[in-house]
Amino acid sequence: MPLHPFLIKTNLYKFIARVSRPFHHVYKYMTYLDFASKNKGKGLVNDYYYGAAKYENRYQLHDKLLTDLKDEAIYYYEFGVANGDMIRHWSSVNQVETSQFVGFDSFEGLPESWEGKGKGHFDQAGNFPDIKDARVRFVKGWFQQSVYNELLNCQFDKRCVYHLDADLFSSTLYVLFHLHPKLKTGDILIFDEFSSHDHEFEALEVFKKCINEQWNFKFVGAVNNYRQVAFSLE
Ligand SMILES: C[S@@+](CC[C@H](N)C(=O)[O-])C[C@H]1O[C@@H](n2cnc3c(N)ncnc32)[C@H](O)[C@@H]1O
Repeated sequence: MPLHPFLIKTNLYKFIARVSRPFHHVYKYMTYLDFASKNKGKGLVNDYYYGAAKYENRYQLHDKLLTDLKDEAIYYYEFGVANGDMIRHWSSVNQVETSQFVGFDSFEGLPESWEGKGKGHFDQAGNFPDIKDARVRFVKGWFQQSVYNELLNCQFDKRCVYHLDADLFSSTLYVLFHLHPKLKTGDILIFDEFSSHDHEFEALEVFKKCINEQWNFKFVGAVNNYRQVAFSLE
């Protein structure tokens, strides 16, 4: 009997799927380490390997980027806002009148569990962050319902900074595909959980493959041992 019907008839495929699954995870981890190794010592900031990594260190990466961008009119788009810490930071440091800051989020938390955090984690009870700045606005809803329509109303004729901070593979990949037609040279992409190699990292890998490596994602910097990573488009 050929292999294909044999595996189905005996149900052996179920067993093999179960035992082989962790190897995909391990493979992804090694691919991510390959990325880390290739960029060692590169970038505006790169703390690898830093034994005392802590989440707040992500401001070091954002502030490095802001050193150049604080006086430039930009569009900052954030996907995954939660309580608004980072959109607040960007809009307070970049005071250029014509800059705009748009944050997309359900404000109901994660749609699926991620790395030990359950569905609904980061829930803001549907409320936007309170940021008193006319240049800042929020788009409430699941990306899958809001991003396509809302991007039709957005502008892209200045440098765009895309902060991808939705944690999940599904959410990140969905957004990347919708950004694809908008991307241009000089735009910046920041990933907040890039070391989540089955999620944000894999989303970027899949995206790059699907767009036939159309863009070179130039490594700009990383902190927290490549947990937060920024790229510019070339
Ligand atoms: C880690 S938090 C964002 C943190 C924030 N960027 C900061 O700097 O503090 C991730 C957010 O992504 C949002 N999110 C993830 N997937 C989403 C989706 N498909 N649609 C809408 N929001 C989503 C969650 O609601 C959550 O608030």
